[in-house]
Amino acid sequence: RKSTSRLVVGNWKMNGSLALNQTLLAGLLEKTKATPEKYATVQLAVCPSFPYLAQVQQALSGSSISWGAQDISLYTEGAYTGEVSVGMLMDFACQWAIVGHSERRSYHGETSQQVAEKARLALSQGMTPIVCIGESLEQRQEGNTLAIIEQQLKPVLALGEQLKNIVVAYEPVWAIGTGLTATPEQAQEVHAFIRELLRQQQAPQVQILYGGSVKSANAASLFAMQDIDGALVGGAALDADEFLAIAIA
Ligand code: G3P
Repeated sequence: RKSTSRLVVGNWKMNGSLALNQTLLAGLLEKTKATPEKYATVQLAVCPSFPYLAQVQQALSGSSISWGAQDISLYTEGAYTGEVSVGMLMDFACQWAIVGHSERRSYHGETSQQVAEKARLALSQGMTPIVCIGESLEQRQEGNTLAIIEQQLKPVLALGEQLKNIVVAYEPVWAIGTGLTATPEQAQEVHAFIRELLRQQQAPQVQILYGGSVKSANAASLFAMQDIDGALVGGAALDADEFLAIAIA
């Protein structure tokens, strides 16, 4: 059921600078190159802000670490001031695009339908969308977690043939940047539910990542769960040692 290789993605969010990124990238490269055997079964990726994609591409080309974007435009070209298209991201060899992060959903009003469309656009260019879903604290307390997850995933499940090429990230909103991690059991319950929804669409092998205050101290117990295939890491991805410790936890 669970895929054999673990995927650990760093979502740098709106952090970094040329200088800070350089230090972070150098740390990642130095450690992964010094002991490649430790990282042999982990797929590592980082997602910087758009302006730094060229920097990241230059640093990581030829290494075992891949990179991606934190969002993509719903539009492919033209008069959309401030937007960044899938084609532009392909120019920088992005392998991944995070879509539907809860910060995009809540601060920019992205709907699940739009998120699914972004996933479809990414797939059409051979990029892997990392589709983020997750319930708020209120929704959890009202016992609506699984219903919300199903609602958010529904348009994505209709992607058809290409569905098997996505990655899903379960990020409970209340666990993002709060230091409050879902317990491994809470996360597993939702991951198993997501797996079942994917299975019904003939895509049980899709990797399902957990995100929300993942640290090296809690990563191993999360990764030990049957349906947790890796992690989408925010704050802890800004420190090379901590990010790599999560990767091999
Ligand atoms: O996308 C990753 C994320 O939202 C989790 O952030 O800082 O809680 O690891 P953080």
